[in-house]
Amino acid sequence: MQHHEQITIVIFGASGDLTHRKLLPALYNQHVKGHLPSNVYIVGVSRSQLSDDDFRARMKDGVQQFAPEHFDETRWNAFAPRMRYVSADLSSADGMGAVKTALDACESDVEHRLYYLSVGPKLYAPIVQNLGTHGMAREDVGWRRLVVEKPFGIDLASAHALNDTIHAVFSESQVYRIDHYLGKETAQNILFFRFANSIFEPVWNRNAIDNVQITVAEEVDVEHRGEFYDKAGVLRDMFQNHLMQLLSLIAMEPPTSFEANALRDEKVKVLRAIRPPQESHTVRGQYIGYRDADGTAPNSKTPTFAALELYVDNWRWQGVPFYLRSGKALARKQSEIVITFRQPPHLMFAGVDPDAISPNVLSMRIQPDEGVHLTIQAKEPETTQSMHPVDLTFHYRDSFDTTTVPDSYERLLIDAITGDAALFTREDEIEAAWRIVDPIITSWETSASAPSLEFYEPGSWGPDEADELLARTGRRWRVGDLDH
Ligand code: BG6
Repeated sequence: MQHHEQITIVIFGASGDLTHRKLLPALYNQHVKGHLPSNVYIVGVSRSQLSDDDFRARMKDGVQQFAPEHFDETRWNAFAPRMRYVSADLSSADGMGAVKTALDACESDVEHRLYYLSVGPKLYAPIVQNLGTHGMAREDVGWRRLVVEKPFGIDLASAHALNDTIHAVFSESQVYRIDHYLGKETAQNILFFRFANSIFEPVWNRNAIDNVQITVAEEVDVEHRGEFYDKAGVLRDMFQNHLMQLLSLIAMEPPTSFEANALRDEKVKVLRAIRPPQESHTVRGQYIGYRDADGTAPNSKTPTFAALELYVDNWRWQGVPFYLRSGKALARKQSEIVITFRQPPHLMFAGVDPDAISPNVLSMRIQPDEGVHLTIQAKEPETTQSMHPVDLTFHYRDSFDTTTVPDSYERLLIDAITGDAALFTREDEIEAAWRIVDPIITSWETSASAPSLEFYEPGSWGPDEADELLARTGRRWRVGDLDH
């Protein structure tokens, strides 16, 4: 890159929560770690009237609160001049015109731009259209990229329409749809675990695996997001994106390269192979007290918990259940993928009840306690035939010189700047995920035979029906060190 080239990150929605909590702390951390190129500048845009210094002060507060481990006054003073602020009404073409004028004034002769939509979803389309009106997506003198936050649509039709709106202005190769789960180190590690080690691939299929469980449990409740959440519910908020992404990383075929499209081609194939679940393979729940939260309807039927039993119709996974669950106000925060292997075909140890021994279990812990555990049977000392499950473990904190796993936005922002879309979702991937989730939402909202909404105690593991979903076939949920 030439020395006069400049990269401007234009954050639309700069006075919002995401910018304050995540984006600026991530950029600042990358600056401190020396990964943010020195020619990167940040322009915050939103309606609030702020000076450059007001904006910098707000962002400093965000870094101090949300990335305190790297905060240091001297480093901050070196970073802060990279930031500017422009006040504009983004829903109007004139407002975008003002942004263009301000950007043109502060950029050098070759400028690249990353536009980040950190605004409410209603503003996605107007902003994109206004960028188009002002020719701000054209790549005459540098690249132009668009980062789109979730939610990407509220169903298949709206996601498709949003893709069309975006493509009227940006080509697909310019678009970076964020799913922050893909930026988590431990989610990326699924690919390394599977494809940088040769011992797992031969057993990664229906012949050796009994079932796969994906749990994304949250301890927090809906907090102050009631108004948004009441319209969304857990399937839109967590399944369409995060859980489907985790599932596709676990189930995909080995891509031929680590290149964005090669990777995403394989993920799309898996999503397309998922069979629409029967209604009896779905469970929906709501925690007791949800209806009292600000912004929720007093008789709201919005699910805050769901569990699904899914099947991937291909040679690798035929007949293997994938159990997915996620919810708010659960017993603890824990995201984990648990793969349970089949029992040995023949147990030669006299007096051992084959049904009583626990199977080999591989658990990939996304958060907290980031790492991998593999449970195996070991002989108990000083017995003739007794055995006991023991754990082979890997923890990031022990194996690598790292006290904290970096926030996913750090990686994703750098990837968007360098033009690596591997950890961003493609148009067809988003739509394939909606194709799975949409019919379940419709069935829950309209079908007389759909399972009823079950209420659960905050601090529990969700409604009993989620346990029954597995108990029908003699299985149990596992998470952390618990079997339940
Ligand atoms: C977001 C959801 O995408 O993910 C939130 O909108 C949820 O409702 C959050 O709390 C969970 O993310 P993490 O990284 O805390 O597991």
